[in-house]
Amino acid sequence: MDNRIAIRNLFAGYGSVRVLEDVSLDVASGQTAVLLGVNGNGKSTLIKCIMGMCKPSAGAIEAHIDGQPHDLLKLTTEEIVDLGIGLVPEGRRLFPKLTVEENLLLGAYRPAARVKRLANLDFVFETFPRLAERRRQPVALMSGGEQQMVALGRALMLEPKILIVDEPSVGLAPIFVARTIDVIDQLKRVKNLTVLMAEQNFNQAIRVADTGYVIVHGQIAFTGRSRDELNNSELIRRLYLGA
Ligand SMILES: Nc1ncnc2c1ncn2[C@@H]1O[C@H](COP(=O)(O)OP(=O)(O)O)[C@@H](O)[C@H]1O
Ligand SMILES: [Mg+2]
Repeated sequence: MDNRIAIRNLFAGYGSVRVLEDVSLDVASGQTAVLLGVNGNGKSTLIKCIMGMCKPSAGAIEAHIDGQPHDLLKLTTEEIVDLGIGLVPEGRRLFPKLTVEENLLLGAYRPAARVKRLANLDFVFETFPRLAERRRQPVALMSGGEQQMVALGRALMLEPKILIVDEPSVGLAPIFVARTIDVIDQLKRVKNLTVLMAEQNFNQAIRVADTGYVIVHGQIAFTGRSRDELNNSELIRRLYLGA
């Protein structure tokens, strides 16, 4: 089934602060698109626009879900979530005093997800056995890597068709960075998801990328249509490797 997002000539910002300028980007069905860029360049702003949490001043965002087109700029965040677009937000935004299971169940708050919450909870616990072991623990007691799994699990409770992950590696120990990126890649394959992932960790993100966009000062400065194109980009070398 066709599940994809097309962003065309998007302009957005906060009040008089302009952030995104003429951004066009495609998240192709069944693929992983990575949005690369260092801090403050507009990655989260773009994600907020997709999720209806930031109103663009111009441009278009269209999603195809099971082949059906939807104009996301006309929908609320709840309606976008109900379509099957799940977000793992920057900083994870968990409830630290609640248990793993309670946090996961909060992901199934929408009526369509609520009816299937037990089956989806089983799936999350199969995917992350560590979370099953710790289901009654408050998430505040867990490592950053485990918390990222809770955040991913919570998004999976919505049975998304498109998964958007904002900087999964932030604040994680190096060993968990690679594991988290691998888990997202596996989920894409197992659940046949379409993925958009914002990352600063170029080397890790590129391992699982089908397409990559580099955002600099709110503009797409480079588009790599394959891993090789991304690896060979002069711009990326300059931004990330200081070469
Ligand atoms: N709520 C906000 N109000 C005003 N400015 C913001 C807000 N959020 C982000 N910005 C600004 O927008 C720019 C892009 O931020 P952001 O999209 O968060 O970048 P990134 O995710 O790439 O780090 C930054 O200059 C940031 O300071
Ligand atoms: Mg961000």
